Amino acid sequence: MSDTPIAFQRCIAPQCGATYSVQETLVACPACGELLDVAYDWDRAEVPGSLREIEASWARRRDPSCYSGVWRFHRLLPFCQLDQIVTLGEGQTLFQRADAVGHYTGLKPGCLFLQYEGMNPSGSFKDNGMTAAFTHARMTGARRAACASTGNTSASLAMYCAVTRLMQAVIFVGSGKISYGKLSQALDYGALTVQIAGDFDDAMLRVREVCDELGIYLVNSINPFRLEGQKSIMFRVLEALDWQPPDWIVVPGGNLGNSSAFGKAFSELKQLGLIDRVPRLAVINAAGADTLYELHERRGMRWNRGHSSMRVAQEYEREMDVQQRKASTIASAIEINRPVNFRKCLRALEDCDGVVRRVTDQEILDAKAQVGAGGIGCEPASAASVAGTKALRAEGVIGADDRVVCVLTGHLLKDPTATVAYHTTDQDQFDKVLGSRGVRRASYANRAVAVPNDIGEIVKAIRLYT
Ligand code: F0G
Repeated sequence: MSDTPIAFQRCIAPQCGATYSVQETLVACPACGELLDVAYDWDRAEVPGSLREIEASWARRRDPSCYSGVWRFHRLLPFCQLDQIVTLGEGQTLFQRADAVGHYTGLKPGCLFLQYEGMNPSGSFKDNGMTAAFTHARMTGARRAACASTGNTSASLAMYCAVTRLMQAVIFVGSGKISYGKLSQALDYGALTVQIAGDFDDAMLRVREVCDELGIYLVNSINPFRLEGQKSIMFRVLEALDWQPPDWIVVPGGNLGNSSAFGKAFSELKQLGLIDRVPRLAVINAAGADTLYELHERRGMRWNRGHSSMRVAQEYEREMDVQQRKASTIASAIEINRPVNFRKCLRALEDCDGVVRRVTDQEILDAKAQVGAGGIGCEPASAASVAGTKALRAEGVIGADDRVVCVLTGHLLKDPTATVAYHTTDQDQFDKVLGSRGVRRASYANRAVAVPNDIGEIVKAIRLYT
């Protein structure tokens, strides 16, 4: 038996392919600057014979590595030993058939499913990745961890730091760019919160510089260990579907960590012979933050097995600089113009025969109201997946009886301002929060009914509306 660890880090550029130990803290290939993957020598790993074998771990729920919806799948992300895992029991999420939302998107009954990642302990999918990055940070002896964030990564990091007391959280947020639900988490959990005079893209650049200079561990999704944890979202989707891949996975695209992780998950499962078919991937941008859509759908950029030039993307970045174009959408979580995982996402799109679409803030909020009306709800960015499904159905790209899973990335309560503004009767509030975003209507609003403080009037109103 070889002493070489089965997990290592590897540059995603096939022409470089340099490898590094998992003990190293890297966010880019030192040899060529490309992104890194966590890779495995699967021949020497304890790969399950079938995915169904993993279900047995449910019977051992007192063991934290079985209780966690991420680490239950440890054999599919074996970069650490079981006793090294830092877990808060993340990944106990819901998967629901949602016929009413399906009807809204144009799908037949039984075809649309919602994967509610808002049920994680910090209220978003980020905890799937954070438990993995945090585990790796501890393996490397880190004492401080940082991220730039539109709010959810920072809430998640702050939570892991506060609960475990293993590290100090340092978070960078754009000023005025983060919803109160998310900001309140970081502040309450005691993270050092640095508000940059700029947006997420500015904060992302700065946090990389600061982490370099001060030797702080970076937990943004540019960190390949984050994405290992996020693969488990797809493992749970498969589990809920009795291990039968759906036809489509639809996911909002911001920094493109999820889409990259999902593509990697399916490629690995296929390579290991654990699934026989890979679902198609649809990544949905907000219209005001649509770099991936622009480059993939309009300018034809492809991964091309790692042999594509970045010239087109660089030109586009220069255009954005010259025009001083900034991302702008009500879906603040995905208000990102320079996604760090762009190249990995191109690879995922190639591996999963993927498409990219963009949806307006109006479409996002209408879809969000539909999700909410079905119960549980989600934050605006998450609803981009449902709005994108509707758009792809209308085009005929998604068929009426395709089985579609929309990933709802964050909880409804993350951004109450957008929700209340949509349902409000106060035109000034509507205009202030939504009108400035080009949202004109709230077709699915559930408006509060104002009544005098009088029993007769109250009874009359209830009779009228029920
Ligand atoms: N949905 C929500 C609720 C998010 O918070 C994010 C990203 C995304 C979707 C986009 O996911 O980056 O994997 O494409 N939020 C990051 C943050 C950027 O800082 O919380 P992605």
